[in-house]
Amino acid sequence: MLRQLLPRCTRAVRAAAPAQPALLRPAARAARWYSIQPQAASTAKRMDIEPSRLSIEETKSPKQLVDPAQLVFGKEFTDHMLTIEWTATDGWLEPKIVPYQNLSLDPATCVLHYAFECFEGMKAYKDKDGEVRLFRPDKNMERFNKSAARIALPTFSPTGLIELISKFAKLENRFIPDQRGYSLYLRPTMIGTQKTLGVGAPGSALLYVIASPVGPYYPTGFKAVSLEATDYAVRAWPGGVGDKKLGANYAPCILPQLEAASRGFQQNLWLFGPEEYITEVGTMNLFVAIKDKETGQKELITAPLDGTILEGVTRDSILSLAREKLAPDGWKISERKLTMKQLHEASHEGRLIEVFGAGTAAIVSPVRKISWKGELVDCGLKEHEESGEIALKMKEWMEARQYGDDEHEWSYRC
Ligand SMILES: Cc1ncc(COP(=O)(O)O)c(C=O)c1O
Repeated sequence: MLRQLLPRCTRAVRAAAPAQPALLRPAARAARWYSIQPQAASTAKRMDIEPSRLSIEETKSPKQLVDPAQLVFGKEFTDHMLTIEWTATDGWLEPKIVPYQNLSLDPATCVLHYAFECFEGMKAYKDKDGEVRLFRPDKNMERFNKSAARIALPTFSPTGLIELISKFAKLENRFIPDQRGYSLYLRPTMIGTQKTLGVGAPGSALLYVIASPVGPYYPTGFKAVSLEATDYAVRAWPGGVGDKKLGANYAPCILPQLEAASRGFQQNLWLFGPEEYITEVGTMNLFVAIKDKETGQKELITAPLDGTILEGVTRDSILSLAREKLAPDGWKISERKLTMKQLHEASHEGRLIEVFGAGTAAIVSPVRKISWKGELVDCGLKEHEESGEIALKMKEWMEARQYGDDEHEWSYRC
């Protein structure tokens, strides 16, 4: 059967190949052929992620639930994990939900040497009817695929993985506390698993998803943070990979964070270039609300996606909410570059309304002060305030959609 098909396939491929200009025709070409020409590549179709092939092995020793009030971010994990292996020859193998367990990796596995690892951070929420929902999982899958592609790991069908994650989240339902502010943090992760010290594209990979019940980031209400504007270390640069969620982007940021902490600041405010553009804060995107010098118009600003900024799902959602709910009140919503000097000037002229970080873990994180060139720049909060009005509203609007109170297309029922 295969032999019968082959000549036809070859003919079909040849027929589909565009006619080449004379100069590029093999006979006329002096340069060597690349090892694989599109026409010569295998026509065998590798499997995509296929939810219908899922098998589930339930744990025989279910864990005891931790008192929600005692939950610490990323410390407790659920009973199971979702795993899907990939090989260069077959593509994605059958997905499995298995009891949470250790991975067994050869010491020469490429992820351990060359950082073939990328990940996502997303949450499952329990709505008022006890149903489990994801928030904009399509955005996480899009970013996961971009990160994987950048480090030569395989990509996949977003809908297939969303379906599997939603089955997994539903299975772990009992770990999601009912109260507002609680959720199940989901960590989709992909690693290169080929056993080799050779530096090259991994021939095999493992995608797995683990889940950790988490409580509200601010259990006793907002607590504004103070930042250290950081110019001696750079988180991301043009042409780099700062817009991808690679594990390799995170470890180098810990030392500057420890240094900032030693001086009493909770996070680094990453500046870039001689202009000292404001990029991100710690592991969050940053929003700045200022009044225009000439017109007094209020403007909500965040850095543009120029390749150095992680494409935050929260960032995108806040921009969207701002365009929907703040713009009609006269606000200008901008994705544009802002320098630390401009922020400093706005603060001194009383035009800085508020500053906040934005990310899945905290949703918003209000900023009180920024240390810059030996000065503590005031970010607009009064002494007794822990959050500005916009950060507060954004948190409410976001949660309403995450928990399904405000029924919206961003919310995905599992
Ligand atoms: C560097 C960085 N920026 C921004 C974000 C916020 O992204 P998201 O809103 O998708 O959580 C994160 C979160 O993981 C991050 O690590």
